[in-house]
Amino acid sequence: MSENQKLLASENQHLSKQRIQYYNIAIESGHGAIITDADGNDYIDLLASASSTNTGHAHPHIAKAIADQASKLIQYTPAYFANIPSIKLTERLCNLAPMSGAVKLSWGNSGSDANDAIIKFARGYTGRQYVVSYTGAYHGSTYGSMSVSSCSLNMARKMGPMLPGVVKVPYPDAWSRLADESEDDFVDRMFAAFKLPFETYLPAEETAVILIEPIQGDGGITKAPQKYMEKVYNFAHEHGILFAVDEINQGMGRTGKWWSIQHFGIEPDLMSVGKSIASGLPLSAVIGKAEIMDSLDSPANVYTTAGNPVTTAASLATIDVIEDEHLVERSAKLGKVAADFFTKEQAKYPFIGDFRMYGLNGGIDIVDPNTKEPDKAATTKLIYRMFELGVIIISLKGNVLRFQPPLVITDKQLQQAFKIMDQAFSELQAGNLKLPENAEEIGW
Ligand SMILES: Cc1ncc(COP(=O)(O)O)c(C=O)c1O
Repeated sequence: MSENQKLLASENQHLSKQRIQYYNIAIESGHGAIITDADGNDYIDLLASASSTNTGHAHPHIAKAIADQASKLIQYTPAYFANIPSIKLTERLCNLAPMSGAVKLSWGNSGSDANDAIIKFARGYTGRQYVVSYTGAYHGSTYGSMSVSSCSLNMARKMGPMLPGVVKVPYPDAWSRLADESEDDFVDRMFAAFKLPFETYLPAEETAVILIEPIQGDGGITKAPQKYMEKVYNFAHEHGILFAVDEINQGMGRTGKWWSIQHFGIEPDLMSVGKSIASGLPLSAVIGKAEIMDSLDSPANVYTTAGNPVTTAASLATIDVIEDEHLVERSAKLGKVAADFFTKEQAKYPFIGDFRMYGLNGGIDIVDPNTKEPDKAATTKLIYRMFELGVIIISLKGNVLRFQPPLVITDKQLQQAFKIMDQAFSELQAGNLKLPENAEEIGW
C-alpha cells in the first residue's frame, strides 16, 4: 500500500462524507504553485486550494509572519480585547474595499459566516426581512449561507427547513443565453425574471438585500452581463434595498482586479471576503458602508477566534505579497496568456465548448462534439488523466474545468501545465482515455 492509501484508509474510518471526491492523495507540502503528496509525487496546482492560496503555498514572507506572530501571541479573543495585527488589518482592508465614504468591517472565521453576517447587517440596518440571492450560487455551509446557496441538492437534502425569507432569482449565466439572442435581449429577459417575484409576491419595501457573486465561482466561473448588474443595482437603490457582493472566491486579485465587482464600476453596500484573505488561514470579513456596519451591537456578530492575531498577521503579509509582487496585474497578464492557449485548443478539439477567462481564472466547458451538450464522462476522463500526468485540476457542474492556479505560478510552470493539458486533450480526441474505476464518486 502506498503512503497515500495508508493515510486515507485510516482517515476513512472516522471522517464523515465531508470531502468532494477527486483524487486519492494526502497532501504533505506545497511551495508556490507546486504541491507534493505523501508519496513524494509533485503536482502543478491549478486549483489553489479552491482559490484560497492566491499567493501560493508556504510563501516565505507569509510563513515568517505567521511564525513570528505565533511566537508572540497566538490568540486572545478579539471579542474582548484588540490585538495589534487585527487593528492594522482593519484599516488596511477598509482602505482596499471598493467603496467610497466611511467603511467598517466585522471579522469572521470562514466565507460562510461572512455571508451570514451580510444577512444580519442588512436586516439590522434596513429593518426588513427578505433576502434575494441567485440560482447557481455557492455562498457557504452554515445555515444562513446554505439558505442563500443553490448549486447542489446535497446542501439542502435532509437538513430543512432553511432560513426563512430567502428568494432565489435566476443568475444570468453563460448557458442561459439562447443561441440567437442578443446580449441586450438576454439582459432584458433575465431582468424580467429578476423582477417577477417583486411584481407578484415579494414586497420590495420589505426586502433587505440582494446578494450576488458578480462572477459566479462554483457556478462555473461565469460573469453577469454589465447591463444586467446595472439594472439590478439601480432597482436595489430605487427601493432602498442593499446591494451586496460575495468576493470570497473571486476577490483578492483572482480576476485581474482586487475585487470582481470592480469589473462593473459599481460600488457595493456590503461585501464578504474570505479564502485568500489570509492565504487560507481561517479568517473572513464582511466589509460595508459604516452606517450599515454600525447598525448592530455586540455580540451580534462575534466569534472567539475571528480576527485572531495569527490569521490577521497572515492577512497583512498576504496583502504585502499581492502588492509587492504585483499579483493583481500578474493575474490579468497570465489570464490573457491562458485565454490564448484555450482559444487555440478550442480550434483543435471540438469537445472544448465555451470558455470564460477573467484574470488567471477560468471555466472551460467540455461538451459532446456532436450535440454540444455537457459531457461529464469526458470531463472526468480529462481531469483524471491530467492528475496522472502531474496537474491538479477539478471540475465544476460536472463538465466545466476549473482553472484557478495560484497567482504566483511561474511562466514555466504554466507552460508545463498547458503541455500536460494538451496531451490529455489529444489523448481524449484519439479515444485513448478511460474512466477511472471510481468515476461515479468523482466530482460535485
Ligand atoms: C463564492 C463563495 N462564497 C462563500 C464560500 C464559503 O466559504 P467557506 O468555505 O470559507 O465558508 C465559498 C467557498 O467555496 C465561495 O466560493
